[in-house]
Amino acid sequence: MSMESAGESRAVEPRTAAVVPAAGRGVRLGPGAPKALRALNGTPMLVHAVRAMARARSVSLVVVVAPRDGVTEVRNLLDEHTLPDVVVVPGGETRQDSVRLGLAALPEDVEIVLVHDAARPLVPVDTVDAVARAVRDGAPAVVPALPVADTVKEVRPREGGAPEPVTGTPDRSLLRAVQTPQGFARAVLAEAHARVAREGEGATDDAGMVERTGHEVVVVPGHEEAFKVTRPLDLVLAEAVLARRRVTDGF
Ligand code: C5P
Repeated sequence: MSMESAGESRAVEPRTAAVVPAAGRGVRLGPGAPKALRALNGTPMLVHAVRAMARARSVSLVVVVAPRDGVTEVRNLLDEHTLPDVVVVPGGETRQDSVRLGLAALPEDVEIVLVHDAARPLVPVDTVDAVARAVRDGAPAVVPALPVADTVKEVRPREGGAPEPVTGTPDRSLLRAVQTPQGFARAVLAEAHARVAREGEGATDDAGMVERTGHEVVVVPGHEEAFKVTRPLDLVLAEAVLARRRVTDGF
């Protein structure tokens, strides 16, 4: 973001900010620090994710939503990694709450918002810019997505580990696995967060909330390196991707 000069074309482009929810505990990854602060090749996941946003030409501001008891730690971490222009705010109980708190910290002149999970540290910059471009070109809500490799079943959940009956098999060719950053016209995302009340654990993606308010959401191609680090095996994969990048482009 700071690499961009304040040229003429920049002046007419709507200002785009990235909100990075990073306040989750990451229990599926096993015990330890909050997920966003766990290291990949020695650098916290959050730093990778923030760099991916900050490097995007389209992004001029990054807001990180930190664990409530970790704001100072996150601030120091970003300063250490020379990301001093990033705004840090405390998060909430659910992802939905954390995104809402991040949105509340945006300056008024921001017109486009990308919401990017800290848990997707390796999203390529081109994917970030493609999402922002699609919003700039007029889509109210944009999600990067990939076709689904597995066949997916719907089940009726059962308590206590009993085998769950299958209730349906959706046509795989119609399914997409969605990633982040998800991009929005700011007003559309703000409306969704104002109108969709939190139920249970809250919405797991922002586009889903926008769908419920009746706005169209479109998909653009996602990227296999934008996968979410959720389980221990994902850490191994993420470090392998970083090692490959170091070889191929000295990154
Ligand atoms: O738990 P899950 O992997 O779906 O979390 C997605 C993202 O939302 C993560 O980057 C996590 O840090 C963030 N999150 C948050 N506040 C919460 C829960 C999750 O910012 N209360």
